Amino acid sequence: MVKAVIFDLDGVIVSTDRLHYEAWKKMADKEHIPFNEQINHRLRGVSRMASLDIILEHAQKTYTKEEKQALATYKNNVYVSLLKQLNEKAILPHVLEVINTLKQKGIQIAIGSSSKNTPTILKQIGLDQTFDAVADGNDITHSKPHPEVFLKAAEKLDIDPLSCLVIEDAISGIQAAKAAGMKAFGVGDAKHAELIDYAADDLRDILHVIDQ
Ligand code: BG6
Ligand code: MG
Repeated sequence: MVKAVIFDLDGVIVSTDRLHYEAWKKMADKEHIPFNEQINHRLRGVSRMASLDIILEHAQKTYTKEEKQALATYKNNVYVSLLKQLNEKAILPHVLEVINTLKQKGIQIAIGSSSKNTPTILKQIGLDQTFDAVADGNDITHSKPHPEVFLKAAEKLDIDPLSCLVIEDAISGIQAAKAAGMKAFGVGDAKHAELIDYAADDLRDILHVIDQ
């Protein structure tokens, strides 16, 4: 039986994809590194430093640890200033309805996100008091597909991972959920992940899974 639902943040609750893209693009252009939507696609669910390593695969020079840190900081500063434009209108369709229904059913809800900006984003969209637990990039040392962030969310909720269901839009996130022993519900890109338990276009389909 599902006792808790753990939501990924970026791409499930809110669409920050475009903002991540713009910020990385600005950094890549500054460094004359080729960067496009296809490369951006590979960054979903992946931590900031791991994302930078993917982008630097296309760089002409090798960057030192310090230089890499500076590039990540540059990108994050641009990203954080773009986050100021986020508000509740950025919440993806059906999210609020699903959250309210889960609460009515007595199901615990949590966030499991690789992003260190999770607290800022939740505040911007007015959902900082909504979840029973939040596990994010600030709590973990291993990014998805490692299960750490979801195990941390289950631990904060004090619920057995086997009773948790994860909603994800990234393949790395589905892999992380399955590695944590959880059920995985894929939306967007993650609908085609190999290990998926449930896939849907409409987030409300999760309510059928809960009722099973
Ligand atoms: C994930 C995004 O939620 O957070 C990734 O899908 C991003 O694209 C990662 O790289 C880390 O985000 P941040 O905000 O800590 O740089
Ligand atoms: Mg995501």
